Amino acid sequence: MKQILIEGGHILRGEIKVSGAKNSAVALVPASLLSDEVITIDNIPNISDIDALNDILTYLGAKVTREKEMMRIDATGISNRKIPEQISKKLRASYYFMGALLGKYRHVEMYFPGGCAIGTRPINLHLKAFELLGATIEEKDNLFIIHADRLKGNHIYFDFPSVGATINVLLAACKAEGKTVLENAAKEPEIVSVATFLNNMGAKITGAGTSTITIHGVQKLGRCFMEVIPDRIEAGTYIIAGALVGDKLRITNLIPEHIEALLSKLKEMHCPLKIGEDYVEISASNDIKATNIKTQGYPGFPTDLQQPITTLLTQAHGKSVLEETIYENRFQNVPYLNNMKADITIDNRKIYVKGPTKLSGQVVKATDLRAGACLILAGLKAEGKTVVTEVEHVLRGYENIIEKLENVGAKITLEEI
Ligand code: UD1
Repeated sequence: MKQILIEGGHILRGEIKVSGAKNSAVALVPASLLSDEVITIDNIPNISDIDALNDILTYLGAKVTREKEMMRIDATGISNRKIPEQISKKLRASYYFMGALLGKYRHVEMYFPGGCAIGTRPINLHLKAFELLGATIEEKDNLFIIHADRLKGNHIYFDFPSVGATINVLLAACKAEGKTVLENAAKEPEIVSVATFLNNMGAKITGAGTSTITIHGVQKLGRCFMEVIPDRIEAGTYIIAGALVGDKLRITNLIPEHIEALLSKLKEMHCPLKIGEDYVEISASNDIKATNIKTQGYPGFPTDLQQPITTLLTQAHGKSVLEETIYENRFQNVPYLNNMKADITIDNRKIYVKGPTKLSGQVVKATDLRAGACLILAGLKAEGKTVVTEVEHVLRGYENIIEKLENVGAKITLEEI
């Protein structure tokens, strides 16, 4: 087990460079299977979710080499065997093997994916879409056997714009016969990057980034090179760190347009910030104002930044209201923040945050990835020492978080216990 120790109250100065996006890389890596040639992906973050996908690829017989941030995947000689539960449950994104293997081989056998316990997280929309493309699905004891004699394009409408289900439709439909039209698709930048990746291989996808995506199936996909886009959630987390304890802290290698919802909230709160072409410079202030936030699909306020920004709301003057509309169990960070002397009440899908309160160091638990990020941010601001336990969750999604924070002046260490 790993834990992070933080001595709070140190000012952060200097530069933090944002890594490649976890949620883009975890889709591109399984998508590589669809190619009949070698794929190269650059700017891959060094996080344990990527290691877990690597394990699945090599289990299937792919040849994977990694050199710094570059990953080469040769999946030409793989055998389509059942993916065991102990490797599929390591992460949520293992579900992309469903779409990729179905697209390539018309057959998949794998178990329910893992991921953070932030709600029930069903995959019914993924499965419904596969059925509409002509697949049959058998499910027993968490094992899914998905088979199609023929995959045929269809008209698919999602009840909810799910990120994972949208990407899975791209993966399966790009090699189906004929045309698929997906309505009420998710619009996240990670979806645009998967569509670009597949198009670079020879797929015919238009409309990614809007709510209607059209896919014309092709028979073969070839070689391509792709660079992972910057991680907008990692960028947002460090920007919030700057708003808490920064002195002209510069977060670089980001796409400001991807974090517009966060930046406009920070402006509304009167956080001193400067937005450049590919960076944000931000400082802490004692005069930030309370605000109201509601999580939504892109371009709305991302649910993945909801827990990190809660720490900032504890420092704002007045009462903030934050509503979580995507997940039903994403406030597990709140009791720990209250242990650190925040003043937050939970009312169903909303929290009310009264501020400002002086946070004080405590032993707290990272119940999930972004809850862990929230508590690390609280530890940076709090008086005294904070210990964040079970930080394996955090290491799944933030590349070199200790080094990045240490380099700008944080007193933070990782401990094995
Ligand atoms: C992805 C991201 C996650 C982010 C989320 C929302 C990855 C690996 N993870 O997760 O970091 O928080 O998008 O931006 O990219 N739902 C259903 N049925 C389904 C699919 C989803 O009911 O078949 C529900 C979920 O329970 C949840 C909501 O839809 O309430 C959002 O899910 P979705 O957009 O699919 O998120 P993930 O792909 O799991």
